Amino acid sequence: MIYVAGGTSFLGKRVVEKLLEDEKDIKCLFRSEAAKNKLLSLKEKYREKLNLASGNLYSADSLIYGLKGSDSAIYMIRLEYVEFVKNFIDAARKCGLKRAVFISSTTALLPTENKIKKLKLEAEDLIKRSGMVYTILRPTMIYGGEDDNNFYKMLNFIKKRGFFVIFGSGKNLIQPVYVDDVASAVSSVLGNPLTFKKTYEICGKNAIEYNEMLKIVRNKLKRNFRIIKLPIGTSKFAVNIYKKIVKKSDFNSDQIERMKIDKAYSYNEAQKDFRFSPIPFEEGIEKEISEAGL
Ligand SMILES: NC(=O)c1ccc[n+]([C@@H]2O[C@H](COP(=O)([O-])OP(=O)(O)OC[C@H]3O[C@@H](n4cnc5c(N)ncnc54)[C@H](OP(=O)(O)O)[C@@H]3O)[C@@H](O)[C@H]2O)c1
Repeated sequence: MIYVAGGTSFLGKRVVEKLLEDEKDIKCLFRSEAAKNKLLSLKEKYREKLNLASGNLYSADSLIYGLKGSDSAIYMIRLEYVEFVKNFIDAARKCGLKRAVFISSTTALLPTENKIKKLKLEAEDLIKRSGMVYTILRPTMIYGGEDDNNFYKMLNFIKKRGFFVIFGSGKNLIQPVYVDDVASAVSSVLGNPLTFKKTYEICGKNAIEYNEMLKIVRNKLKRNFRIIKLPIGTSKFAVNIYKKIVKKSDFNSDQIERMKIDKAYSYNEAQKDFRFSPIPFEEGIEKEISEAGL
């Protein structure tokens, strides 16, 4: 039995589907009725294979019922919630569960310092010292499907407004990864001893310039749109003022600063150990556009 924490997330839902398609027995954590409802259609289809267990990562004890009897786990909650990681490891220890796959992110590799990176590394360190047989996967930005908060929002914006704003020259490299490729990676590493106690970068097939990505989007969307480029310095200044006026903005100047950083990675190790073979951005974005009917 595989215990899944974060099975109701954007990535988690694809991972759960993949495991069920592979005929695995799973037990999925949910913390609310709303979260449980997200799993109901799958529950109808896979009655025996999909089990549900209530619990909340705020409390290690609440996870014990679900973790008991599981032989491995997949943890897909943002690692920056370090207390949650501590609670999960604590509960796993109490249940004698040894094997777990954890989803981190390439934010942990950014060349500049920031709070999220620091917390993710702290959590990764806890995992490595937990005594568990871990595998840590660090995906880049994930896209695909309608609940993708990254590209789906962007595609919709372009379709509606006919323009898109970017910060900086657009010469920075990005390497987004298609959601099903991440789900396949999770499923492939779970029982693979070559991946035990290792950390892998999980990214798209090629790194591309942000400008190139926009060209691909234009071709695949079959929609011409204007690109407005704002200098990084001016944009940071404007966002700081905006944040002072609109206090609840979830956009900040750090995010703008990070846009000029190249985010290109190698998946050689993943290819070697579990034949990770991601699709190129052209293919992934075409799938996303057609699946979402854009
Ligand atoms: N999205 C990306 O582009 C991206 C990129 C790289 C790495 N990742 C990593 O991939 C993983 C999944 O990310 P995502 O963006 O798909 O997820 P997400 O939308 O952030 O979903 C968060 C998940 O955590 C659960 N959760 C939050 N607090 C909880 C609590 N107290 N107890 C139990 N469950 C709780 C949520 O359950 P509810 O359904 O109840 O809210 C949901 O299943 C994360 O580790 C993230 O860091 C994501």
